[in-house]
Amino acid sequence: MAMLGVLGAMTVEVEAVLAALTVPRTERLLGCPVTRGRLAGEDLVVAKSGVGKVNAALATAALARAGATAVVFTGMAGGIGADVHIGDAVVATDLVQHDVDASAFGGTLPGQVPGEPLAWDADVALAAALAEAASGLGATVHRGRIASGDQFIADHARAAAIASAFDALAVEMEGAAAAQAAARLRLPVAVLRWISDTANDEAVTDFPAFCARVAALDLAVVQALVTRGPIWAHVD
Ligand code: ADE
Repeated sequence: MAMLGVLGAMTVEVEAVLAALTVPRTERLLGCPVTRGRLAGEDLVVAKSGVGKVNAALATAALARAGATAVVFTGMAGGIGADVHIGDAVVATDLVQHDVDASAFGGTLPGQVPGEPLAWDADVALAAALAEAASGLGATVHRGRIASGDQFIADHARAAAIASAFDALAVEMEGAAAAQAAARLRLPVAVLRWISDTANDEAVTDFPAFCARVAALDLAVVQALVTRGPIWAHVD
């Protein structure tokens, strides 16, 4: 049976979705809190991964084990694209790991895990549905590449270097790992990030300030996605 999995890294990124679930049941799978419940008449399973790529990969596997047949990742990111501003949404077309580099051996590009593609694609239909849901909330929605790494970026030069090396619009710490795990598990995946900061030296104050807004935004977009109908039942 088709069931949507919802993934977020931090408590603030999942707490409103969790609070909106009817008949919530929580268990730990692969060390990760996973809650099944219903939202707008649909069965959902929600996981909080914790921060970083390893946690995101494990949580994606936990959602698969809990029966999710598609995964959407929602949360915050630093905007690094030219016209990407705080409060905008970025929906990934594909995702790359900016902190991977085995290019010294030749044969792989910076960002590319040997034996893997440079970037992992988001599911086209699921990403389109997420973008439509966010734009229905009045957000400015950008579509493009998201770069993930185990680093909080708070430096303009570093942000600009990642943007230009990977042609990325946003930087965060989990999405590409979830997409890599989802590809292994043959789960369609899409990632939406609300821009909390622009990865410069103001990010250390902009990010915590935006944390107060993200729970409501994540719930609104998940609710809009679910209400729109079970698109995840049709994706492959
Ligand atoms: N998530 C939100 N803002 C971020 C940033 N600047 N770097 C990494 N992850 C983030």
